[in-house]
Amino acid sequence: MSVFDINPDIRQAHTLASDFYTDEKYFEQSKEKIFARSWQFLGTMDNLENLNPQTILENFLDEPVLISRLANELYCLSNVCTHRGNVLIENACNDDGIRCRYHGRRFDGSGKFLSMPEFETVENFPTERDDLPRIPFGVWEKFLFAAINPIAPFENFIGEMREQLHWLNFEHLKFASAKDYFVRAHWALYCENYLEGFHVPFVHQSLNQAIDYGSYASELFPFSSLQTAFSKSSADDINAAETKSSKQNPFEKNIAAFYFFIFPNLMFNFYPWGLSVNVVKPLKPDLTRISYLTLVSDESKLNQGAGADLETVELEDQTIVESVQKGIRWRFYSDGRYSPAREQGTHHFHQLIAKFMTD
Ligand code: FES
Ligand SMILES: [Fe+2]
Repeated sequence: MSVFDINPDIRQAHTLASDFYTDEKYFEQSKEKIFARSWQFLGTMDNLENLNPQTILENFLDEPVLISRLANELYCLSNVCTHRGNVLIENACNDDGIRCRYHGRRFDGSGKFLSMPEFETVENFPTERDDLPRIPFGVWEKFLFAAINPIAPFENFIGEMREQLHWLNFEHLKFASAKDYFVRAHWALYCENYLEGFHVPFVHQSLNQAIDYGSYASELFPFSSLQTAFSKSSADDINAAETKSSKQNPFEKNIAAFYFFIFPNLMFNFYPWGLSVNVVKPLKPDLTRISYLTLVSDESKLNQGAGADLETVELEDQTIVESVQKGIRWRFYSDGRYSPAREQGTHHFHQLIAKFMTD
């Protein structure tokens, strides 16, 4: 049986084989096969300058891009000069155009080549190849995404989240904090733990008191999934979150949290107080950075319900995921089975990994 044989019938399926997490070859292959072909999070539109350099997955894909604004349009460009490959912009700035500090080549904010000294006698110059390449770029509400070589359009990855949350007012979400955690485990172990609520009663005692485990629900979409935790009390209920004036939250039960996962590594967690975005960034086969971005709409609810004390929940998850990292290295473990009732999200995630790795 190959590492990537995941039976589509969860009742018959075995989990991804441990080689996927331990063999460096798969870690290397996942850069091109999984991460370069999926949509990556670039941050929010708040406080953008005219030119904003970014690195897509630093110390992993390491792709330098530039979010640029020209006449109220946003572009995502390669941040590498088309002459001899110098990185163009190192710090965000409000300059009107781009000028390479190596030999003075100039571009406008849409990446169009403008001028180059000492090139008067060069033949067939300039051509489109001298413009800065545009990187596939996606915007959802105030969030920015890019993909190097996407397997499917942005809408296929984000459309379900857009659809399900159309009633939520994103304008009130304000930046509150950013924090990075480091987990000594493979990136996929961290994600697949997130994708099941099965462990909540065992691993997260305080969270388990805030949510109704019995009604915890998972929905699967082509490149994303949604877990919904319902609340035991209406006091910590997302329904009370501010809705767009013309729209109503379509849910009847009390919602403690929506956990949206965008394959392969983006988590958008909605709580009554706002949104926690968690980006899972591989560094080594056994080391992962988790970047938290916290956006708050209602501070008075920060300490209530499923969104209270997320740091405790994070550390509980890290401890268990690091324990799994140790376990999967040992020779008497290769793979396991899934609970059809509680591990649909993890099964779906493993199928997507298999699809991307073998396509
Ligand atoms: S590398 Fe940019 S002008 Fe030469
Ligand atoms: Fe957890």
